[in-house]
Amino acid sequence: MGLILNRIEVDLGRTSGSISRNLFGGFTEHLGRCIYGGLYEPGSPLADEQGFRTDVTAALKRLNVPVVRYPGGNFVSGYRWMDGVGPKADRPSRVDMAWNDVDSNQFGTNEFIDLCRKLSWEPYLVVNCGDGDMREARDWVEYCNGSKHTALANLRRQHGYEQPHNVKYWGIGNEVDGPWQIGYKTPEEYARAYLEFAKVMRWIDPSIKLIASAASHWQGGTVIERTQLLFEQAAKFIDYLSIHWYVGNPQDDFEGYMAQSELIEERLFAYEGLIRALSLQEGVSRIPIAVDEWNVWYRTHPATMKPGTNWFGLEEIYNLEDALMVAIQMNSIIRHAYSVKMANIAQLVNAIAPIFTNQSGLVLQTIFYPFEIYSQTCGDTALDVFWQGDTFSTGNYTGVRVLDVSATLDESKRQLTVFVVNRSKNNAAETTINLTSGCFAGDVSAYVVNGSDIYATNTFDTPNQVGTVATKLTAEGTKFTHTFEPHSVTALVFAL
Ligand code: AHR
Repeated sequence: MGLILNRIEVDLGRTSGSISRNLFGGFTEHLGRCIYGGLYEPGSPLADEQGFRTDVTAALKRLNVPVVRYPGGNFVSGYRWMDGVGPKADRPSRVDMAWNDVDSNQFGTNEFIDLCRKLSWEPYLVVNCGDGDMREARDWVEYCNGSKHTALANLRRQHGYEQPHNVKYWGIGNEVDGPWQIGYKTPEEYARAYLEFAKVMRWIDPSIKLIASAASHWQGGTVIERTQLLFEQAAKFIDYLSIHWYVGNPQDDFEGYMAQSELIEERLFAYEGLIRALSLQEGVSRIPIAVDEWNVWYRTHPATMKPGTNWFGLEEIYNLEDALMVAIQMNSIIRHAYSVKMANIAQLVNAIAPIFTNQSGLVLQTIFYPFEIYSQTCGDTALDVFWQGDTFSTGNYTGVRVLDVSATLDESKRQLTVFVVNRSKNNAAETTINLTSGCFAGDVSAYVVNGSDIYATNTFDTPNQVGTVATKLTAEGTKFTHTFEPHSVTALVFAL
């Protein structure tokens, strides 16, 4: 095994922005077995009295997720929220055109809110801006948040919820820029619809935060135009601009896969630049970004699936290289924490998810572990760290650093966390971490996610091929040397 030399310089004063806890958000959609058979399985010996799978909720607690988006996704563009409230026996089954399925509506708004309360999640609801209208959207806000004695607030009371749900985050539409979407909208159509939806939703509850669907179809050529029209027509009604991305390795090209960090960086820098330019032009404050869908998704993605294979509820089985890629995405999000104020891993259970269930239990997929570590150890301030070392070149990218790094500070705990992905398949990376201000104060907790090789996978038969190993180390003075294992994700948490 070769040894490469790397250097990470940390200046505790070189902060780049505050880190919103909402960067560790999640997403649950009516899709395959995410809700039914995943989160919710009444009658299962593993379910509680409300029908929630207790093994799943216990695993989710470890992820420390602050906010969860629901009910879609593509599903929401054909959803009628009224179908999913009230006595269960009266709820209609409906065709779900987004996923070619049938939805029983046994899980709806109030079940989702119950789950949010159980897991301390802030609910984030997306309204139907596909085949739905503004009346239906404002009615949903009134049903959830109304405190007066209006028909819709009283309907909620009649359904057993005396107090308003106070749902703070509301998305208007999902991926409206994608031709795959029910009710796809041109840039003009969406900007116009967004403003009218937003107005009435805010008039019902002025305290809500609104999220505009801005960019998911990156090659479609309308990202700039869409964002410009949204700024021109509705800037004052937008609290977040939503962007989505998914990455993957359909060519089984490890280096090419690992270099997708560069594409993510390009998109984030480009989109931040666009927001800056448009805020200047319109004389309004910069609008933060919500990456409210991100993950690895290619084995069950319609665009990259092998002929004859089934979408199968998007039940992606992840391996170690996917866990590295999840950490790489989180590093990017942390490095851009000054503009990204919400991010939601898509999704949480069974459908492209860190948790995979069957009727008798669950498996923690490889990607569970980096998400857990990042969510548990990330500080509240991002640091702009410098690092250098060995590089690789692949495809359009040259000089890509083998290590991918981000760092955060937690002033109140006097704690520095350095996140490092070693994307070398074979080489350990001996690395010095230099503090150019401040001093290490002894204790270091190291958390390492790794497995035998990049294809290592957790399954029901072999559930522990990839996991986290925690160790205690010591650091004094201003210099610390550590060797990062090949194909690993590491979080080093230093006392300062
Ligand atoms: O998360 C799976 C799907 O990916 C979502 O429904 C959609 O918004 C995106 O295309």
